[in-house]
Amino acid sequence: MTPLHGALAISKRFLEPVSVAVDATCGNGHDTFSLAQLADRVYAFDIQEPAIAATREKVADFEHVCVIRDSFVSFRDYVSEPIDLIVFNLGYLPGSDKQVTTSVSDLSSGLQAMLAQLSPSGRVVIVAYPGHPAGQAESQWLKETLSRLDPSSFRSFHLYHMNGPNDPAELYLIERNAR
Ligand SMILES: C[S@@+](CC[C@H](N)C(=O)[O-])C[C@H]1O[C@@H](n2cnc3c(N)ncnc32)[C@H](O)[C@@H]1O
Repeated sequence: MTPLHGALAISKRFLEPVSVAVDATCGNGHDTFSLAQLADRVYAFDIQEPAIAATREKVADFEHVCVIRDSFVSFRDYVSEPIDLIVFNLGYLPGSDKQVTTSVSDLSSGLQAMLAQLSPSGRVVIVAYPGHPAGQAESQWLKETLSRLDPSSFRSFHLYHMNGPNDPAELYLIERNAR
């Protein structure tokens, strides 16, 4: 059996201070606000104006946060440095049009490109919501893709609320397997 070097150590690594963080889907800005406490520089993306407005308001006091109205697929137009921490909170903006949601096609191209730009100690946190059709497809794609990541480059994890009601959210973690 491969040792995991301690469950607490893994969890703690995802909360350590970092230099550069990306919130791929900033929505109402809750994750961006949390990242602003951990990182020296935060880039937050969303494709919807109401999400951008809500996030800008939430992080108005932080000069080190850059809120960008664009798809995370285009992150390379804005982020040139290695990324230490990436958060994807998938799905649709709560209280908004449920048709405007993340998709397997965007996730596939965005995540692959971001993994290539992860710093040597880089990590990715992904929350998927299998309770709606697009979320179900994303979760399925994540299970298949992350279980096949090259173990000499990445370690991937999957956590879900086993006794949670109504297709609870699922958490996926990826960390660079630094040598
Ligand atoms: C569940 S919400 C995010 C919640 C948010 N992280 C928070 O803390 O409030 C998902 C968001 O992803 C956005 N989204 C969908 N496709 C996207 C894409 N390709 N690039 C960036 N954002 C996208 C939606 O507009 C929506 O606001």
